[in-house]
Amino acid sequence: MENSIWRKKPMSAYEADIKNNQLKRIMGKWSLTAIGIGGIIGGGIFVLTGTAAHYHAGPALALSFIIAGIGCVFAALCYSEFASMLPVEGSAYAYAYGTIGELFAWIIGWGLILEYAMGAMTVAVSWSGYFNKLVHLFGVDIPFYLRNDPWSATTYAQANGLDAPSFALNLPAFLITWLVTWILVKGIKEAANTNNLIVILKVAAVIFVIIVGAFFVNYSNWEPFIPQPEMVVHEDGIAKEAYGWKGIFSGAAAIFFAYIGFDVVSTSAGEAINPKKDIPFAIIASLLICTILYILVSLVLTGMMNYKDITGDALKAPVAMAFDKVGQPWAVFIITAAATAGLISVMLVMMLGQTRVFLGMAKDGLLPNFFKEVHQTWQTPWKSTILVGLVVSLVASFTPIGILSDMTSFGTLFAFAMVCLAVLILRYREPNRERPFKTPMVYVIGPLGIVTNFALMALLDSKAQKFAIGWMLLGFVVYFIYSRNKSKLNDM
Ligand code: ALA
Repeated sequence: MENSIWRKKPMSAYEADIKNNQLKRIMGKWSLTAIGIGGIIGGGIFVLTGTAAHYHAGPALALSFIIAGIGCVFAALCYSEFASMLPVEGSAYAYAYGTIGELFAWIIGWGLILEYAMGAMTVAVSWSGYFNKLVHLFGVDIPFYLRNDPWSATTYAQANGLDAPSFALNLPAFLITWLVTWILVKGIKEAANTNNLIVILKVAAVIFVIIVGAFFVNYSNWEPFIPQPEMVVHEDGIAKEAYGWKGIFSGAAAIFFAYIGFDVVSTSAGEAINPKKDIPFAIIASLLICTILYILVSLVLTGMMNYKDITGDALKAPVAMAFDKVGQPWAVFIITAAATAGLISVMLVMMLGQTRVFLGMAKDGLLPNFFKEVHQTWQTPWKSTILVGLVVSLVASFTPIGILSDMTSFGTLFAFAMVCLAVLILRYREPNRERPFKTPMVYVIGPLGIVTNFALMALLDSKAQKFAIGWMLLGFVVYFIYSRNKSKLNDM
């Protein structure tokens, strides 16, 4: 095939991939839905809600959640159409390869590293924070040089008049990453069972927050529901406009991270018993369930605590602090424990997604064969899983990565917009192809998905945007040096 950046993977090649699947097909529709929920509910809802209410939307945070949720629903419907047609593990990358072209597909796959691997690193650091809080509730304090990366440990030492440590690492982040890696290497059944259990726990915790919190709502905190725009000083000392409709939209970008995860369902196509039907079901079900829960949590939170009072420690753990403030400190324990457990499944799902996207890319020759070696007994891509575990654990424990959730959102939004575009292209090019799931009103939903997701990208933190664009540019270099020459399409 000609060596063009626009060359496409033929549909027949996807069919061959599906036939030669070496992964173990054990997941039914509820297990797949649990994969989605496992990826979605995490640090986002427990942490970002405070920042988004105080600095962006005020009580109208629920509207921010609705807007971000709508953007995700557009993407989810488009993902579902593709997942029903091309049930392969490469997800957005694979969909673009068959429709837009090789370079685009590569860049999407490269961008998904931001979503999945960087997402897992960010979550590992958040997990460590929750774990430290949890053990602190039992009177145990991990030494600061064993719970911070070297930079953060030095900053901490300086701020507290201590000697800078000669060695420091975020040990909890390191250990949790290896625990998750081990579960993922051992088998998809083990991973799915662990995920199911954690999902039950965290959904119960979120419902607990909603029901118990509802008793402590003070309606006056919701008035005015959409406050007049005003300048608010952020933690970096810079004043930015908040509230009003603009604040609602920037709040939607700020909490978008909380929704990331439902798309990972599509990377599990190789492990689904009936992918054509169950993956679309699971993508949409997990997103809708979480959207409803999120809207209710945001209403309860802003009703329990005035958005103006969400400052200092409350910004780090707003949901727990809201309960503390209304005199229910026992709830802090439940929320901290649930968040600690809940974040493990987010990591599990993110790392699962990363290795499956790599598997898809390696099958196409764009990544080395190493990434597609499946273990004979465990039937998992074990080498790639260990490599991902190694990189995630090292970055999470030795670098100050905590602020990079916006980069994760960037990679995700980019993939979402591209999937919406790819669906339109394929409808136009192959209108008669069999589509077990069809995006309703695709010529409206598709363009709206592209616009909403790009608009949310434009509203992300500008530093994160620059880093993310730098990462994408690096992807171009790798493509032209390596992947283009190794592509399987060269032999077709
Ligand atoms: N949605 C996931 C979280 O909020 C990434 O932690």
